[in-house]
Amino acid sequence: MAANRPEVIRDKSDMRAWSRSEKYRGKTLALVPTMGFLHQGHLSLIREAKSISDVIVVSIYVNPGQFAPSEDLATYPSDFHGDLRKLAEAGGVDAVFCPKNLYESGIERKKMDKDPSFGEEKAVSCLEKEEGGDGHETWIRVERLEKGLCGKSRPVFFRGVATIVAKLFNIVEPDIAVFGKKDYQQWRIICRMVRDIDFAVKIIGSEIVREADGLAMSSRNVHLSPEEREKALSINRSLTKAKSAALHGQNSSQEINDLIVQEICDAGGRIDYVEIVEQESLVPVENINCPVVICVAVWFGNVRLIDNIEIKM
Ligand code: PAJ
Repeated sequence: MAANRPEVIRDKSDMRAWSRSEKYRGKTLALVPTMGFLHQGHLSLIREAKSISDVIVVSIYVNPGQFAPSEDLATYPSDFHGDLRKLAEAGGVDAVFCPKNLYESGIERKKMDKDPSFGEEKAVSCLEKEEGGDGHETWIRVERLEKGLCGKSRPVFFRGVATIVAKLFNIVEPDIAVFGKKDYQQWRIICRMVRDIDFAVKIIGSEIVREADGLAMSSRNVHLSPEEREKALSINRSLTKAKSAALHGQNSSQEINDLIVQEICDAGGRIDYVEIVEQESLVPVENINCPVVICVAVWFGNVRLIDNIEIKM
């Protein structure tokens, strides 16, 4: 097993030097960014990366910049040693980048409750709430794509994701980066960021990995009680039925939407959103007659789950 154990790199300049020496030796390098508490979904991204690249780096970093203060940063699950064991067992990973902190700590700043440029309550992430965490003030915003779907209820989430992924690209300097379609909007936002600001990184979108009973794998599933977990199966069940209805000619988004809402609410879920959107632009469609993706976000107890299904018309 020891032969498969990846090198653990904690410092960003060590990481950059490691990547550069691999690339100097003519290797292609793929990055799989994660927040740890690894499951089969993450491992499938690593397998996909391995099939197209010589050298694989997995990053493990729970990014405070993408959590609002009201969200679950403090309770986000972690098991670093378990993750290293899983990576060693799976094999194929050359380095794990696990920095302690990727943000500069700030100088004393007079706290602003209002952002004068917007004249409204400023949306802040956990990073800005943390003492001294205001040394960072540069954010990447994918302006239109970040607003819909999850962006409505999580206003700082995608600027945090885009920014940390850009930082990881600058530190690791990968040729390829692999993301899961489980986080469909996130994947599309990263593709757009790469295109718009010319990162020399090829982005791969990898299929959703599900438990045997259909629940999409997620690090947050561990917080579901057995009853909530059972009820959460309504998500995939409703999406599968919706897809089948659409493929059999039911093409009104409203009707398909109602079908999903009904099934999930009957099971006791609280809907954040159900939306049927065009696959690349994520613009909502009234009728399903082009390739769409149905995206949902649902609460079961205190756990917010997201899932989606693509329909290629
Ligand atoms: P995390 O939730 O740890 O997910 C890391 C990667 O694994 C993402 O690309 C995600 O889409 C993918 N993934 C998660 N569950 C999956 C599943 N069931 N099937 C396939 N892929 C799955 O997403 C993040 O971390 C962060 O936002 C990050 C991109 C690392 C930036 O901080």
